[in-house]
Amino acid sequence: MAGPEAAPIRLLPEDLDPRMLADAGIDPSMIPLGLRQDTMKTFSLDLARNDPHLMVLGDTGCGKTTVLRGIVRGALASHTADDLVIALMDVRGDLADEVPEPYLGGHASTAPLARQLAESIAIELDKRQASKVAGPRILVVIDDFDVLAAGGTEPLRPLLPYLASARDLGLNVVLTRPVLGASRAMFDMSLQALRDTGGSTLVMSGDRGEGPLLTKIFAEQMVPGRGRFVRRGAGATLVQVARFAREE
Ligand SMILES: Nc1ncnc2c1ncn2[C@@H]1O[C@H](COP(=O)(O)OP(=O)(O)OP(=O)(O)O)[C@@H](O)[C@H]1O
Ligand SMILES: [Mg+2]
Repeated sequence: MAGPEAAPIRLLPEDLDPRMLADAGIDPSMIPLGLRQDTMKTFSLDLARNDPHLMVLGDTGCGKTTVLRGIVRGALASHTADDLVIALMDVRGDLADEVPEPYLGGHASTAPLARQLAESIAIELDKRQASKVAGPRILVVIDDFDVLAAGGTEPLRPLLPYLASARDLGLNVVLTRPVLGASRAMFDMSLQALRDTGGSTLVMSGDRGEGPLLTKIFAEQMVPGRGRFVRRGAGATLVQVARFAREE
């Protein structure tokens, strides 16, 4: 008699078409981004509950901006302009074309402008906190945080007091930075605050020699779009983000 069949080894694809992703369904705060290796099911960001913030770490060309593009597209697809404001901080301008005017709360392409944008968001959040009335979801999208932070203007500083109440306030912050220098940068007040307030982390391709980025999590070389997703209180899960390509 034949023994039990070995479970087939299922591998994540290296190139995943975003159209292959299952719809987010009825919950607009679930943003489908790719596939998880553990279940081979959709990898989604859960903005309303488990992933109030996201830090994407990865070296040049690993697919960081592509992740942000996927988040922006997913959020746009599931929200009307009355329900969502996107604030972009993006020195290279890669994401500027992604956000239609009615959704755009501001686009900062320099560190001082990013600081100003954060200050104006803080004023809005302060009002929400005082009135206990929620407004549209505010999604702050920051590409290449290291470049913005290099100016010493601390672009995220005005938002730090609100990160912990992000769920009640309808605030989400998603940012990218390289693995290179990340173990030191984790002491940066803003990055530390993102993690301490329940933010999730996606560790994409990078050098293991950088040292542990989170408890026991090291970067390693990976194909573009591949990363280890770490949610607070849960183990790491290998994921493949779909290739949310730039429109030609
Ligand atoms: N999810 C993905 N699946 C397959 N290929 C991808 C994926 N994401 C990125 N790539 C490939 O890698 C290239 C670089 O992607 P992207 O610009 O998102 O990387 P990045 O990390 O933002 O780079 P940089 O360090 O220059 O900012 C893309 O042009 C594409 O060829
Ligand atoms: Mg990029």
